[in-house]
Amino acid sequence: MTTSTNTKRTIAVIFGGRSGEHEVSLMSARSVLSVLDPARYNVIEVGITHTGTWLTGQNALAAFEQGITEPLLPASLLPDPSKPGLFVWRADKHEKIAGVDVYFPALHGTYGEDGTLQGLFEMADVAYVGAGVIGSSVGMEKGVFKDVMIANHIPVVESVVVLRSEIEQDLESVIRRAESVSAYPLFVKPANLGSSVGVTKCRSRSDLAEGLMEAAQYDRRVLVERGVPNPREIEISVLGNDNPQASLPGEIIPGADFYSYDAKYVLDNSEFCIPAALSEAQAALIKELAVRAFKAIDGCGMARVDFLLDPKTGEIFLNELNTIPGFTKISMYPKLWEASGLPYASLIDRLIELALERKAERDRTVRQYRRDV
Ligand SMILES: Nc1ncnc2c1ncn2[C@@H]1O[C@H](COP(=O)(O)OP(=O)(O)O)[C@@H](O)[C@H]1O
Ligand SMILES: [Mg+2]
Repeated sequence: MTTSTNTKRTIAVIFGGRSGEHEVSLMSARSVLSVLDPARYNVIEVGITHTGTWLTGQNALAAFEQGITEPLLPASLLPDPSKPGLFVWRADKHEKIAGVDVYFPALHGTYGEDGTLQGLFEMADVAYVGAGVIGSSVGMEKGVFKDVMIANHIPVVESVVVLRSEIEQDLESVIRRAESVSAYPLFVKPANLGSSVGVTKCRSRSDLAEGLMEAAQYDRRVLVERGVPNPREIEISVLGNDNPQASLPGEIIPGADFYSYDAKYVLDNSEFCIPAALSEAQAALIKELAVRAFKAIDGCGMARVDFLLDPKTGEIFLNELNTIPGFTKISMYPKLWEASGLPYASLIDRLIELALERKAERDRTVRQYRRDV
């Protein structure tokens, strides 16, 4: 009897992308590739350049890491379901190179994690790891995400969204609105980014003005948020489709004033505590909130849900939900599952299965109105 485990599946891992998190994505893809069992999977590496060109070839990731992408071939996934698989351009012709069972976007931020790539996957009618269009876009947009959390009675820190055009045209009134959120410190962030790119902790009005300009470079929507004093940063991993499960919660002790880009990827001096030292009731609440948040945005496959805990008041705030969490060597998402009894490689297998299950579920949807006559 042939079982599905005897059949090698073809997985296209996609990395890079048009996002401030391009480099982080390369690190995530490296880790994903390192745990994909070659006995079980054929792997195709697809890189997206900073300007959006799709390239493929043997060791495409290494080529991206080294910045030597010339030997790679332009690749495309077409939005037309009758032309499935990956194509390359050779001599001005589209040539199919492979059928693909599952696409694995190891991309973070804009054009990867925000629903746009997921829209292409939906158009092409292919199986892919992670959340769909809505889950991805709501998870990505910190302002809309908070509104959805508030509607679901999930606690979040007070904030306001301002627009780049408002910052450019009337900075003073933007500053007034921002200062009405709370006393300093305030956190300013681009609404659609991650890895702390463009995030500033502002202790004064001049910090705020600078932070607003900085964040506005990365997005037309900017979030200004009350700073939680000396927050404990708790993260938890969620896995599943319609019945998602949460891992143990973990804690990050940033090696800088806050968990900035440098603290995440440069300094390498942050500490991790798994499981987080929490009371049973706190851990249970964090699990429950994470699963509720995942369901509220129509999450699928995976998400890492991050909380800020005020050590003085004991208040717990849901900070953000990442639909494509980091998979680098220091990343919490796989570490938390490992500590919860699910090793790296099994986690990747499960994510691939969940992608196929979700596709099968989607295929049950009737696309034509069958009117009884
Ligand atoms: N309201 C806040 N109060 C205190 N610290 C914050 C707040 N918002 C963000 N931070 C700090 O900034 C980091 C990055 O912010 P976050 O919202 O998680 O953005 P990103 O999506 O870039 O990770 C957090 O991990 C935390 O250290
Ligand atoms: Mg974060």
